[in-house]
Amino acid sequence: MKELTRPTIAHYDREAAGFRDGTRDHDVSQNYAAFLGAIEGPAPFTLLDFGCGPGRDLKYFSALGHQAVGLDGSAAFVGMASVDTGCAVLHQDFIALDLPTGHFDGVFANASLFHVPRPALPDVLTRLHRTLKPRGVLFSSNPRGDNQEGFSGERYGCYYNLETWRQLLASAGFTELHHYYRPPGLPCAQQPWLASVWRKL
Ligand SMILES: C[S@@+](CC[C@H](N)C(=O)[O-])C[C@H]1O[C@@H](n2cnc3c(N)ncnc32)[C@H](O)[C@@H]1O
Repeated sequence: MKELTRPTIAHYDREAAGFRDGTRDHDVSQNYAAFLGAIEGPAPFTLLDFGCGPGRDLKYFSALGHQAVGLDGSAAFVGMASVDTGCAVLHQDFIALDLPTGHFDGVFANASLFHVPRPALPDVLTRLHRTLKPRGVLFSSNPRGDNQEGFSGERYGCYYNLETWRQLLASAGFTELHHYYRPPGLPCAQQPWLASVWRKL
């Protein structure tokens, strides 16, 4: 499986500065609201930004007073995110996760889980389920498709439809809270992103 994740991570390492500049101003407020709004109990929350990239969302969560931890496989992004946010950032490959049990109120996986090769996804989802506290929340947003997977240039990706995504998450023990397509305000055919919010019960 490493032969699929290594070139993807190497791509982000090479393109890290350009990616940071190109995505710094992306408006993901709809995703922040869906994620944080689903977490129960009093803030501040303990959050994992799974595939945090250069740290835009880590910065947002920690500015709200939450205890946010990043995780990324790209050494370049780990460096950028920790310097820019002051948060702890774990340097781990998605397919070799080492996470504490029952620790996080929420896991924010924005544009990251689609890079997990499909055979590895059940185990990754089970580990994310395990690292959440009871009733913890998983947010995911991924480019959608007809369940195809493969390399697009140097990056490996899997593109699920809603039905398959639901089956995968349910098998890992998650209950769906809601989903939506992005960007907002466009016809469905022009909304390539599937965002979904899940609870560990
Ligand atoms: C499309 S970027 C999204 C970054 C950030 N979440 C955002 O919304 O801007 C995908 C992220 O996943 C990370 N990534 C991809 N494959 C990975 C893997 N196998 N292990 C760890 N990180 C990986 C990349 O380094 C990158 O930061």
